[in-house]
Amino acid sequence: MKIVLLGPPGAGKGTLANLLKETFDLWHVSTGDILREEMKNKTKLGKEVNRYVDQGALVPDEVVTEIIKNKFKNNGRLQQGFMLDGFPRTGVQAEELDKILSKEGQPLDFALYMKASLPVILGRLTGRRVCRSCGSLYHIINKPPKKANVCDECGGELYQRPDDNEETIRTRMKVYTKSTKPIIDYYKKQNKLKTVNADLDAQTVLTVLMSILDENKKSHQHKNSR
Ligand code: AP5
Ligand code: MG
Repeated sequence: MKIVLLGPPGAGKGTLANLLKETFDLWHVSTGDILREEMKNKTKLGKEVNRYVDQGALVPDEVVTEIIKNKFKNNGRLQQGFMLDGFPRTGVQAEELDKILSKEGQPLDFALYMKASLPVILGRLTGRRVCRSCGSLYHIINKPPKKANVCDECGGELYQRPDDNEETIRTRMKVYTKSTKPIIDYYKKQNKLKTVNADLDAQTVLTVLMSILDENKKSHQHKNSR
């Protein structure tokens, strides 16, 4: 399965990707996680992108596209399937992705649009906590850790992302509406768009996705048998 997870900040892209990994052996590629790791390690790239990420602005297309190009080039992991989370985020990135994947002979199966409403998004992002060591995701109400501020998985310290404050969340939402939402149409035109109601709880979203995958598989089998 080769999919793109599309959706506003806080739709649950990272959460769904983690749940999917428990069932399928899929490669999870999150440009947000990659950029935060670079920032944490204070690399040249990390220093370059810091101001964009912390302010909720988009990192320039050529920077993120280069990251994906390098990651995907001649990479055997592409064949086992992947979930792209947070990329593409603009029309230019969507076109570049198609070029990269066609070069590798691994076209996308579909883009999953995780549709979420603003009050849900605000509640999720302001309550999100992330493990500083392993990146596990928590929520103070929806998914609290067993011990306050301590990761259940690795014992690491939980923190709040600097871009998860109300002002930056509003900026991220504006950026999403202006630059990212239009690419929903890009995938619709390619007949590759699937939509889920991401306001629902994470387990229900996963169940809906599983049924989409099932239908997708059946329609492929049907086409191949004709
Ligand atoms: P990125 O890290 O991708 O942030 P984002 O798109 O804003 O998405 P989030 O990670 O905030 O939300 P999510 O959908 O993953 O939600 P999550 O599962 O964590 O990007 C950050 C920045 O990097 C950008 O602003 C930009 O600067 C830069 N960047 C990255 N990619 C780029 C690109 N391609 N081009 C240019 N710039 C780029 O869930 C949120 C919370 O809700 C959690 O607490 C979770 O526990 C809870 N939750 C999730 N789902 C559910 C559910 N179904 N029910 C109940 N609770 C839930
Ligand atoms: Mg995320």
